[in-house]
Amino acid sequence: MAADCAPAQVEKGSQVFAGECSVCHSTKEGETVMGPSLHGVVGRTSGSLAGFSYSQAMKTKAVKWEAETIDQFIGQPQSYVPGTYMPYMGLASAPDREAVGCFLAKQG
Ligand code: HEC
Repeated sequence: MAADCAPAQVEKGSQVFAGECSVCHSTKEGETVMGPSLHGVVGRTSGSLAGFSYSQAMKTKAVKWEAETIDQFIGQPQSYVPGTYMPYMGLASAPDREAVGCFLAKQG
């Protein structure tokens, strides 16, 4: 998956991110919107960004964010992390989720 992120997929992911996620997330380092900055999120442990008040659920989950786990989380946030503060219904399109994973893996 993440390994075959073609430039076109990263570009598509950036558009999906702009439409679906950027209302609550920035990819600039240290910039909190409603959600934590997703700068360098790939490789980070869930709930670990200093200075952001996460739900207990997100901290307890302690999953490592990779294309795979981000895909599962944004598909159905409330079932992947029951009790998360992320008020997002989920992104139904698998290709869109994969593209967002590519975008997040390639940024910064
Ligand atoms: C309506 C606001 C909102 C939208 C839209 C939203 N998020 Fe979130 N997101 C949040 C909040 C708030 C949290 C913190 C959740 C918690 O603490 O349980 C979060 C947490 C996350 C995390 C975990 C970050 C960490 O540091 O552990 C990831 C990854 C994430 N969001 C990705 C996305 C992606 C990708 C999208 C778009 C498909 C998206 N979010 C859309 C508000 C939002």
